[in-house]
Amino acid sequence: MRRKDFIKTAGLGTGAILAGSSLTAFLAGCGKSNSNMGGMGGTPVNVIDGNFSQILPIPNVVGENATLIAQTTTANVSGTGISVLGYQANGILGPTIRTNKGSNAAINLQNKLAEPTNIHWHGLKIPSNMDGYPTDVVNVNSSFSYQFLVNQRAGLYWYHPHPDGLTAKQVFQGLAGLFIVNDPEELTLNLPGGAYEIPLVIQDKRLSATGITYSPSMMDIMTGYMGDSIIVNGVHAPYTEVSTRYYRLRILNGSNARIYNLTLSNNADMIIIGNDAGLLKNPATVRSVLLAPGERLDVLVNFAGLSIGDELFLENRTFSGAGTAQGKQAFKIMKFKITQVVSDIFTVPSTLSNIISLNASGAVKTRNFNISNAGMSMGMGGGMRHRINDKVFDATRIDEIVNANTVEIWVFDNSQGDEPHPMHIHAVQFQVLQRTGGRNQVIASEAGWKDTVLVMPGEIVKVIIPFEDYPGKFVFHCHNLEHEDDGMMLQYQLS
Ligand code: C2O
Ligand code: CU
Ligand code: CU
Repeated sequence: MRRKDFIKTAGLGTGAILAGSSLTAFLAGCGKSNSNMGGMGGTPVNVIDGNFSQILPIPNVVGENATLIAQTTTANVSGTGISVLGYQANGILGPTIRTNKGSNAAINLQNKLAEPTNIHWHGLKIPSNMDGYPTDVVNVNSSFSYQFLVNQRAGLYWYHPHPDGLTAKQVFQGLAGLFIVNDPEELTLNLPGGAYEIPLVIQDKRLSATGITYSPSMMDIMTGYMGDSIIVNGVHAPYTEVSTRYYRLRILNGSNARIYNLTLSNNADMIIIGNDAGLLKNPATVRSVLLAPGERLDVLVNFAGLSIGDELFLENRTFSGAGTAQGKQAFKIMKFKITQVVSDIFTVPSTLSNIISLNASGAVKTRNFNISNAGMSMGMGGGMRHRINDKVFDATRIDEIVNANTVEIWVFDNSQGDEPHPMHIHAVQFQVLQRTGGRNQVIASEAGWKDTVLVMPGEIVKVIIPFEDYPGKFVFHCHNLEHEDDGMMLQYQLS
């Protein structure tokens, strides 16, 4: 949390003048009371059960030439219209942009909000000036045309605002959308498509009678802002009708801070075929899988063998190792109702994609990032903020200089930390090399290429990154968006 906001939250107006020593004493007192409230990890926000009576909407699909109008609008999130932010009139979220590898995107953003915004294309490898750098904003009543070559493999990417200090609020109030890239390699697999390919944007919100409440307390900034209502594709506790066959679920955790341990209520197999940056080499079959904010999963589920009238849920199962604020409660996310019996000849391919594993010996440099010293630590000269290597984001300071077309290893060290941090690097795709401490292994859903990796308390995670040639400044940060807005973001210059 920023010190000035903290003082505001604590009820000390700008008129109140605190001498240095009494401020220090005041802050120290705050640290003490927090450690009495269940530790530095904070407390959970419990989810309220929904009734699963609203139909799951599917965001409309547009091509790579699109107009997005960021605006305050209304949406039926929970049965009645409430005020939300969207990229089109009458709806939360934005359209799904769907395009092919090699296409030239031209997406016009019009800002009809009351504050600056911009768009970051999460997972896309594009030039710095198109990447939604935090200070490259589009002012109120202005527009900007994002133009870039879609130069990467098929996958489920996404877009969201990234203006300095305003990202968390704008995303929480509704601004986000999917960006799907297709390519010929994926096409040859004949994966379930059309009605059998379902995008699921999972988010948690705090809903009031009139809108989405975003007013983080000190504790919320420490843990990240979590909601008590789980929405999927913009609707609270929805259901969808399915047939007795394979479906391809393309799942984004678009929450600010909440981590999910996804599972099916009948304990059926979830066949993971892809993650952040496209298809895995081989499918991985699991019964539950963790998904942190910013991460994506491409999952096949088979409803064959179920009968008309059967119902099952996509659920969150409890999990451990994520600090005191996460994983404590099991809850339902959405419902599947079997309404049709069909025959299905699809078989899961045993090989999905040609992925060459990068070897640590190919890296020219290793960089270490200490992400443990976050939270309400009372450091000298600032304290009180989530940090990386003891620094908070400063657009005027280059933190790392990376040579284009080289391979590096980056190490995210949360070994002394007590909060989970999903770490995201802009403009690259990386492979997860190693995890020590905590879960102590690279999990099945982390194979292949990724852009966000969950680093739990106690863990040290190493990723290997082939940097391409996009000269300019790019940020990397915790994708807990309260942590990010709080300053847990640095930048590298690629040159
Ligand atoms: Cu999806 Cu810099 O973030
Ligand atoms: Cu990104
Ligand atoms: Cu974090």
